[in-house]
Amino acid sequence: MSSDRPAPEGVDPTKPNAARIYNYLLGGKDNYEADRIVAQRMLSIAPDNRTLATFSRAFLTGSAKMAAEAGIRQFVDIGSGIPTSPSVYETITAIDPAARLASIDYDPVVFAHTNAMFSDLPGVTPMLGDFRDPDDIIERLPAEAGIDLSEPIAILLVGVLHFVLEDERPGEVMTRFHEVMAPGSYVAFTHGATESDETWVQQTVTDTVGSTAQFVFRSRADVATIFKGFDLLDPGVVPVQHWLGDDLPDTRMVVLGGICRKS
Ligand SMILES: C[S@@+](CC[C@H](N)C(=O)[O-])C[C@H]1O[C@@H](n2cnc3c(N)ncnc32)[C@H](O)[C@@H]1O
Repeated sequence: MSSDRPAPEGVDPTKPNAARIYNYLLGGKDNYEADRIVAQRMLSIAPDNRTLATFSRAFLTGSAKMAAEAGIRQFVDIGSGIPTSPSVYETITAIDPAARLASIDYDPVVFAHTNAMFSDLPGVTPMLGDFRDPDDIIERLPAEAGIDLSEPIAILLVGVLHFVLEDERPGEVMTRFHEVMAPGSYVAFTHGATESDETWVQQTVTDTVGSTAQFVFRSRADVATIFKGFDLLDPGVVPVQHWLGDDLPDTRMVVLGGICRKS
């Protein structure tokens, strides 16, 4: 899995950064001017993007809750982002205080924030890791985060897959995770969709090309293909609003959500 994109080794405040753009959209303060410029351009085309960010967060915590209620006690949140309340940790430990969480992101800024916020809490392990290197994550999960891969887990991939380019082979990465996940495990994911407003898609791709926040939009069918081998739960790969309620407004950017299970 190769890419010419710059690796997120350190912090470069002059380049827009996915975690910090999202932090700005959610009303946080952990962002720089370069992030705010991109976020404000996004909001000028799609002012409903702030609302969409809250829908996406509701899908994240809602799917974690659903998996916890189904009996899952081990969670692997990849592309976890700068911690925001209500968090995955708060959601799963409300159901079982002994639940374990590996909170993984490839961004050192996110890692620093996650460490600062979670260091005193039991059961949660911040990890610097890259979705595109599944073998590294799989090898470290048991030793570093106490995740037992012979028992079911839930992988959360919310707001991250649309940063994984085609030559980085997201489907092959998911096949690797599928191989090591115990039957009964879940994956919950979201993905920016090609069916979004066309101006929004073009502007976002132009604004982020060459940065670590570079977007790739995919169709419902292409997103479903990434999860080949898993059983997709109803209603399938649909706008996140459909997972949350009946009367939520459409948004210019369409974020697809899905939950699947290894049988
Ligand atoms: C839009 S934020 C979403 C954060 C969180 N999942 C949420 O839903 O609130 C996307 C996050 O994915 C991270 N990310 C992007 N590509 C990644 C990769 N290949 N491996 C790990 N993290 C990645 C970014 O650093 C960023 O923190």
